Amino acid sequence: MKAAEISKTRIIVAISGASGAIYGIEALRLLREMGGYETHLIVSPAGARTIHEETDFTLGEVEAMSDVRHHFRDIGASIASGSFKVHGMLVAPCSARTLGGIAVSLGENLIVRAADVCMKERRKLVLLLRETPLHLGHIELMANVTRYGAIVMPPVPAFYTRPITVAEIATQTAARALDVMGIEVSALNRWPVENGPVMPVSANEPEDD
Ligand SMILES: Cc1cc2nc3c(=O)[nH]c(=O)nc-3n(C[C@H](O)[C@H](O)[C@H](O)COP(=O)(O)O)c2cc1C
Repeated sequence: MKAAEISKTRIIVAISGASGAIYGIEALRLLREMGGYETHLIVSPAGARTIHEETDFTLGEVEAMSDVRHHFRDIGASIASGSFKVHGMLVAPCSARTLGGIAVSLGENLIVRAADVCMKERRKLVLLLRETPLHLGHIELMANVTRYGAIVMPPVPAFYTRPITVAEIATQTAARALDVMGIEVSALNRWPVENGPVMPVSANEPEDD
């Protein structure tokens, strides 16, 4: 494809088998809603399992939210090559297993290979690592991928936006992850929240002894 023919910004979204498949689904929904993006989706077998366990979506419905579906084992896919230009990749959620694979360039599946390509090409790679509690090995893996250029962003919700529903938390987290990738998302609530709570002046004053 000639450069002039690339009109949409390509984003890879990977759903691995950690809890929180809804984050990846929500990212796909936001990108589709905003328009102008060509989404490439990879779902690991464990990711398919969590979509089934945690959401009302079928795998087919999630795949239909993307523009291009890639098989987890297709290490010859377009996105496995650095010459195929993409803006970046979001792994949402990212399991400890996938984090480990990325940290050691274990490119035996397409999620790990595409992530490795993003790092070697100095493209955005955001990992919504979801595991808790963490042992030192997890923390060291996070430190290593950070050294290689990835951004580790555990999907820890912010409560200053006063979320009421799980859906609101998922939207805010997915929007923030896309924001970190340099994608402007109108659904993102930024601090200070417009018309949001304001700390009473008295709360700023030192307490009397
Ligand atoms: C319902 C469910 C929830 C899981 N949650 C997590 C999790 O939060 N974090 C994690 O690292 N692994 C979690 N796992 C285990 C991973 O799915 C498992 O390690 C798998 O091999 C990961 O493979 P993948 O990285 O290729 O998707 C979960 C598994 C299931 C079935």
